[in-house]
Amino acid sequence: MNYLERKQSRVYGYNWENVQNFQARPDDILIATYPKAGTTWVSYILDLLYFGQTERQTSTPIFDRVAFLESTISPMGPGKDLADNLPTSPRLIKTHLPVQFVPKSFWEQNSTIIYVARNAKDNMVSYFHFDRMTRTQPEPGEWSSYIHRFMEGKMVFGSWYDHVNGWWKKKQTHSKLHYMFYEDLSEDTGREIDNLCSFLGLSRSDEEKKRVASGVQFDNMKKDDTTNYSTHCPCDYKSSPFMRKGKVGDWKNHFTVAQSQQCDEDYEKKMKNSTLQFRTEI
Ligand code: A3P
Repeated sequence: MNYLERKQSRVYGYNWENVQNFQARPDDILIATYPKAGTTWVSYILDLLYFGQTERQTSTPIFDRVAFLESTISPMGPGKDLADNLPTSPRLIKTHLPVQFVPKSFWEQNSTIIYVARNAKDNMVSYFHFDRMTRTQPEPGEWSSYIHRFMEGKMVFGSWYDHVNGWWKKKQTHSKLHYMFYEDLSEDTGREIDNLCSFLGLSRSDEEKKRVASGVQFDNMKKDDTTNYSTHCPCDYKSSPFMRKGKVGDWKNHFTVAQSQQCDEDYEKKMKNSTLQFRTEI
C-alpha cells in the first residue's frame, strides 16, 4: 500500500462508521447510481422540480445542493456533514453505494429512493474518461485493460453488474424505490419527468415541467457553471470535461469489434439470471 492508499484507507475506515450511522429522514430523497450513470442529470431534475424557483439555482453548485453521502473530498467537507446540514426539505442526497451498504436508517425511515442505471458499455466509457480527469480516482491506464478491470468489478464502487442487479432486486419489494434508465431519459426527458412526478406525488404544471426538461438539456447543463462541475477542484478539465458527450451509444467510438464481442459474451454470463433489460442504442 502506498502513502495515498494508506491515507485513503484511514479516511474511508473512519468514514465507513460515519456513513453507516447517518440518520435519514422520511422526507429525504436518496439518488442512487453506479458512478457515471447520470447522477448529476437526475439530481438536477429533482433539484429543479423541488427548488427551481429559488436563488440557490444560481448561487450554489449542484454538488453543494445535493450531498454526496460517502464522499470525503467534497469542497464543503465530508458529504455526510453536508447532508446533515442541508437546510431543505426534502434533502437531496446522492450515493454510489451498492444496495447492501446503504445506511439502514434510509430503510427504517422509508425514505424515497431514485435509482438510475445506464448500459454497461456507455457507463464504462464514461467512467474511463472520468478516471482520466479526476484526481480522486485511480489512474485508468489503457482502455484495453480498463475494460477487463470493469468486467472483473475491480472498481471503486465494485461490480457494475452486482450494482444494477442488487438495486433491481430491491425494487421488486420496496415500493419507495423508482428505478430509471439513462437511455429512457435520453429518449424522452419529458416523459421521464412525468413519471418521476407521478412517483413522487408532485403536481407541477405542464409549463413548469417543460421548463425543467429544457433546463436539464445537456447543452444547458454544460454551459452552466453550477451544474458542469467546472468549480469542483479535484478535476483536470484539460483531460476531459465532466459534461463530456451525454449520448447513448458513444461506446461504439471506443470498443473494437473484438472488445465488444468479448464484453457481450461476459455480459451474457453475468446477467443470465437477471430480468433487467438495457438498451445500448436508441
Ligand atoms: P458521458 O461521459 O458519457 O458524457 P454522473 O453524473 O453519474 O457522473 O454521470 C455523468 C455522465 O452523465 C456523463 O456522461 C455526462 O455527460 C452525462 N450527463 C450529465 N448530464 C446530462 C444531460 N443533461 N444529458 C445527457 N447526459 C448527461
